[in-house]
Amino acid sequence: MEAFEAVLDSGYFILGPEVEAFEKEAAEYLGAAHAIGVSSGTDALIVALMAAGVSAGDEVICPSFTFFATAGSIARIGAIPVFVDSEEDSFNLDLSGADELVSERTKAIMPVHLFGRCAAMGKVKAFARKHSLVVIEDTAQSLGASVCTKKCGTMGDFGTYSFFPSKNLGGFGDGGMVSCEDDEKAERVRRLRNHGMFPKYYHSKVGGNFRIDALQAALLRKKLPHLDSYGEGRSENAAYYLEEFADLDPLRVTLPLAGSAVDGVIWNQFTLKVHGEREALKEHLLKHEVGCEVYYPVPLHKQECFENLAPRELPVAEKLAGEVLSIPVYSELGEERREQVARAVTTFFKS
Ligand SMILES: Cc1ncc(COP(=O)(O)O)c(C=O)c1O
Repeated sequence: MEAFEAVLDSGYFILGPEVEAFEKEAAEYLGAAHAIGVSSGTDALIVALMAAGVSAGDEVICPSFTFFATAGSIARIGAIPVFVDSEEDSFNLDLSGADELVSERTKAIMPVHLFGRCAAMGKVKAFARKHSLVVIEDTAQSLGASVCTKKCGTMGDFGTYSFFPSKNLGGFGDGGMVSCEDDEKAERVRRLRNHGMFPKYYHSKVGGNFRIDALQAALLRKKLPHLDSYGEGRSENAAYYLEEFADLDPLRVTLPLAGSAVDGVIWNQFTLKVHGEREALKEHLLKHEVGCEVYYPVPLHKQECFENLAPRELPVAEKLAGEVLSIPVYSELGEERREQVARAVTTFFKS
């Protein structure tokens, strides 16, 4: 309330000192040279693509099994998403065989750190180096995870983040951020988020209104120091589930791989793969008042809006879309409710 009132009193509602302070603190947290607040995780992707010089007709490699915004942002600027399949265990993009997808129009690769799990960035970076591609890490679901002390989102040319309320650092409405190391790229992002304007009322590039509100920044500044403890809460819940579910029949359900924030998993989702009876489990959980959701039922290469793209066979993405079911793992869940979730899952598989 104090932060809220301070913004109301200041009368400074868009960008300004609160945003600058948040950007400085977020960059420090990430160990990045620059963090730039924007209006959403989707806009973060759009601005990063624009700052990377991706334009209409260019191609961008990205996974098909992800939230729509990953490929939506590519299409939104007139570029073409080129979908790759996913790894069954990690849910993240699989680059085997991807060399043949690269054409002279391919400009960038967009790995997604899905469900809180870092994508295999060593492989992504080697692939990008080989084909001279810009790397934009869609870190909407994985802020706070790191690999060998390097934070997710800081390993490529740009990292993009979302503060959608259910994300690891949830805001109080829409918000997002772009991180990068390079001063010039950061300056491009800063200008593009404000209509490509510099100096005032002079526009050398067409950007957009991708600005973040001061109120979001002020409130996120209060939550940022607790981000790691939210992550620990998620990890504890995930560890509990992994233990409780350890003896479930692997022919009926596959558990997610273990891992912790420092070795690349921040548990934005705890996602089961249910073999053949997902709808029945979902119904059973809802009957026992356990929230659950299918992230995501249709892989992007099968979406109607991408019917115009060259058809692709992506069997793992399609299989995952038919099997995944995520159960509550958020840090405020509490022991009682997490026991209720675990009981509901185990009774289903033990019946
Ligand atoms: C993987 C991924 N990318 C991008 C986004 C877009 O973020 P936002 O909802 O803040 O626009 C989301 C979140 O919804 C996401 O999960």
